[in-house]
Amino acid sequence: MRPEVRVYPDLEALVGEAARDIAASVRDTIARSGRCTVALAGGRTPRRLYQLLAGERIPWEAVHLFWGDERYVSADDPQSNFRLARTTLLDRIAIPQDNVHPIPTHFGDPEEAAAAYEETLRQMFGSDPRFDLVLLGMGADGHVASLFPDSPALLESARWVVAVRTNAQPPVRITLTLPVINRAARVDLLVAGAEKRGVLHRALHGPFDPTRCPASAVRPQDGVVIWWIDQAAAGGVDSNGLYST
Ligand code: 6PG
Repeated sequence: MRPEVRVYPDLEALVGEAARDIAASVRDTIARSGRCTVALAGGRTPRRLYQLLAGERIPWEAVHLFWGDERYVSADDPQSNFRLARTTLLDRIAIPQDNVHPIPTHFGDPEEAAAAYEETLRQMFGSDPRFDLVLLGMGADGHVASLFPDSPALLESARWVVAVRTNAQPPVRITLTLPVINRAARVDLLVAGAEKRGVLHRALHGPFDPTRCPASAVRPQDGVVIWWIDQAAAGGVDSNGLYST
């Protein structure tokens, strides 16, 4: 299915609309199925989105929150994606603790943490890890979650969760794999900033190239993809995802 591209003048306008749209999607999913499973993104871009989602009308008792990736640091480390969500969202909503599923980072071996998180997913999803909604950011190198260019993890086809060692800081990460991301019913990618303009063009208009541009491989077989982009990242892209002349 062709991705939907929505361009906004700036990040504040982008996250304002994204919060409303995502909240409506969560409500619709709960109305249909009784629950909504969401994988949260890390990084800087979603910070304001999470603050706005905390003020949206969402029946959090029917929402299960997971993470698309996590830095292998303690949960109170300033670099922790869990800490980002806790301080901007979790501390502000009434969500049952059992509905919050952080990626564990207390194991000595990150591979054990990845295996434990995959077991958590299996307990929630059974044999079909189909998230209702996956939130992603995109790095200036085209990485999504903690799937970085040239990473062997990009070729993983069996495991749902893997530990990776990256050149980023912090280097060790736990991440969902592409098969799980591409099994989602809906993927929302939030991209802001001029430094992402080049890689965004490749992701939207380049070839399917998971190794060199992981974001280009976010193509759910049976789901929708919405790109939320600010004008700085969009350059000449209009809201139909077409490059205006
Ligand atoms: C992480 C994120 C990562 C992030 C991108 C974009 O753990 O860092 O999951 O994939 O979404 O690096 O980050 P910014 O939003 O900070 O540009």
